[in-house]
Amino acid sequence: MVTNFWNNLPHGFTVLAPMEGVTDVVFREVISRAGAPDVFFTEFTNVSSFASEKGRNNALERLDLEITKAPKSAKNSKNPDRALNSTPVVAQIWGNNPAHFTELASALENLGFSGLDINMGCPDRHVNKAGGGAAMIKTPDLAIECIKSAKSATSLPVSVKTRLGFTYIDEYKTWLPLLLKQNLSALTVHLRTRKEMSKVPAHFDLIPEIVRLRDKIAPKTKLIINGDIEDVKHVHELSNKYPGVDGWMIGRGVFKNPFCFNQNYIDKQPTREELQSLLDYHLKLFDERQKELESRSSRYPYEPLKHFFKIYINNFPGASDLRAELMECRDTASVRAILKSKTTL
Ligand SMILES: Cc1cc2nc3c(=O)[nH]c(=O)nc-3n(C[C@H](O)[C@H](O)[C@H](O)COP(=O)(O)O)c2cc1C
Repeated sequence: MVTNFWNNLPHGFTVLAPMEGVTDVVFREVISRAGAPDVFFTEFTNVSSFASEKGRNNALERLDLEITKAPKSAKNSKNPDRALNSTPVVAQIWGNNPAHFTELASALENLGFSGLDINMGCPDRHVNKAGGGAAMIKTPDLAIECIKSAKSATSLPVSVKTRLGFTYIDEYKTWLPLLLKQNLSALTVHLRTRKEMSKVPAHFDLIPEIVRLRDKIAPKTKLIINGDIEDVKHVHELSNKYPGVDGWMIGRGVFKNPFCFNQNYIDKQPTREELQSLLDYHLKLFDERQKELESRSSRYPYEPLKHFFKIYINNFPGASDLRAELMECRDTASVRAILKSKTTL
């Protein structure tokens, strides 16, 4: 029997937001070292990719819970108990085919996740064109069918992450009640519409009304608020102001400060040395993951790693010059060599 971990979290818990190209097994491990949130989410995995022979391996890679240093068999090497012993990880999935939701939800049961989340907020044009992400707000009957299909196939707690509406803010008045009636374990509301993308400030003023809806329709569903939340200090302030909210999800705040979930950094910034040591750790995990995937005849490309440099090499004299140098590198060995030459000068 799977326990509903959402019920065992402290009030005002923190969540690292799902971020495509960011919150994979490597970055989650990096943030664990800097200071873990109470819950991790994976990047989103497409249910129809998983259902297709061609896409299944890639989908499964995205759902790796740990880096296996000496994999024997790609699928048998995981420890299904891992999620029980450390920070819970929720697998986020998306799509618009109910049968495919059933298929992936049923497989997730045995992959070691603590929960399953359905993405109904992604604004990406390709995702929306495929009927997924925020486009689900415009097809509520299908959205409900997908939730029901996922729930029927797993005993994992099922949650949804969404936005206020597709075009208009007021859509939340019908959209959120509809979701709340689905007996979800948790509902994350990103306080913007799809149309607003992330270009306007999050609508914090709507929190009391959203809490009222949750209290009235689904008091047992955990309510998580997302959008423009910076760090754990900000979470404490918001939690005092809005005690009806159960949890707080941080996305881009982690780029400004990877220690943003760490209580010991509430009133201090990480030092240059601490950030660089975290980068060293990221590079080490990157190499391990690359080796692991190559041994499975797959790839872990180097180029996306460059996007992360800004997180660690920041806010000191000469940081932008050093970053520019690192951006020219083509592998982790050259990155390490440059970093070493700068710190031993
Ligand atoms: C690079 C990037 C990738 C994202 N990928 C996802 C995703 O896969 N699933 C999802 O639900 N939201 C995704 N989001 C949205 C975030 O989870 C979050 O809702 C949004 O960034 C607002 O929170 P913030 O203001 O704390 O960043 C992504 C955001 C960013 C910046």
